[in-house]
Amino acid sequence: MTPTNIHLAQRVTEVTPFLAMEIMERAKALEAEGREIIYLCLGEPDFPTPEPIVKRACEAMQAGETRYTHSLGRIELREALSEHYQNRYNVTVDPEQIVVSSGTSPLMLLLAAALCDPGDEVILTDPGYACYPNFIRFVGGKPRFLRTRPEQGFQPQPDEVRALINDKTRALLINSPANPAGSILSRSELARLAELPIPLISDEIYHGLTYEGEEHSILEFTENAFVLGGFSKAYAMTGWRLGYLIAPKSAVRALQTFHQNVVISANSFVQLAGVTALREGEPYVAEMRAEYDRRRRHLIPRL
Ligand SMILES: Cc1ncc(COP(=O)(O)O)c(C=O)c1O
Repeated sequence: MTPTNIHLAQRVTEVTPFLAMEIMERAKALEAEGREIIYLCLGEPDFPTPEPIVKRACEAMQAGETRYTHSLGRIELREALSEHYQNRYNVTVDPEQIVVSSGTSPLMLLLAAALCDPGDEVILTDPGYACYPNFIRFVGGKPRFLRTRPEQGFQPQPDEVRALINDKTRALLINSPANPAGSILSRSELARLAELPIPLISDEIYHGLTYEGEEHSILEFTENAFVLGGFSKAYAMTGWRLGYLIAPKSAVRALQTFHQNVVISANSFVQLAGVTALREGEPYVAEMRAEYDRRRRHLIPRL
């Protein structure tokens, strides 16, 4: 067969590889060759998913829960998420404001597509999670990087953000607990960021894994925010691919329409397992958190 000349669009060739994944894939290849590997590459728990969550998924699959679901996600899961936000943060989230998907990652692309026309800007911290700028560039937007400093936990300062805002700015993306810095934004820092005259995107995927201080959702301070959350980290469910986006009501329909086209819906039985994670997972999360904390305390003085 003669090879076909395939033209790849510039937008895909400009996506930078997700290096943590590349290293993991290389490590797996070396492991297959018999090398002994200690995995430090990804934000991935080394615990198995808690037993009741696995059991629920198996039962759901056996009971035939294997079809497409509502494109926003199963109502049981969206109601359980709404309850979770009420109990944990004392905020009211309407299940109709939630889009459930196969991890938070596709939702980041959806959100970038919904917020950015070509040339529009999203303010990101540098350092930050390496995939964010790719989603923004992919839809023709421009990441505006705010260089953050160690003495501020590499978290954005409202005055410095203000200086970057112009009429093309569509949002500021914050991440607490942060990847890679591990720092958290305090209640007062979140409150001050919430006063900025732009929507906030708050990646709260590491919630549940805070070791010192309190954990707050941006929704405690403003409704003008998008929250990215998921099950990968706290519930040790990285491979299940389950995440969600909470959006202001006015944006939901646009996000839903795109989601119907691109993802259709997250896995049905995985969504039911997510309900069990929210309702029965906390004791397991507490155990894993205590073990991560023990390791952290071992490592920090040595670093
Ligand atoms: C800050 C941050 N957000 C999102 C993700 C991706 O999460 P998900 O597994 O829900 O796609 C990661 C994964 O490492 C991350 O570190």
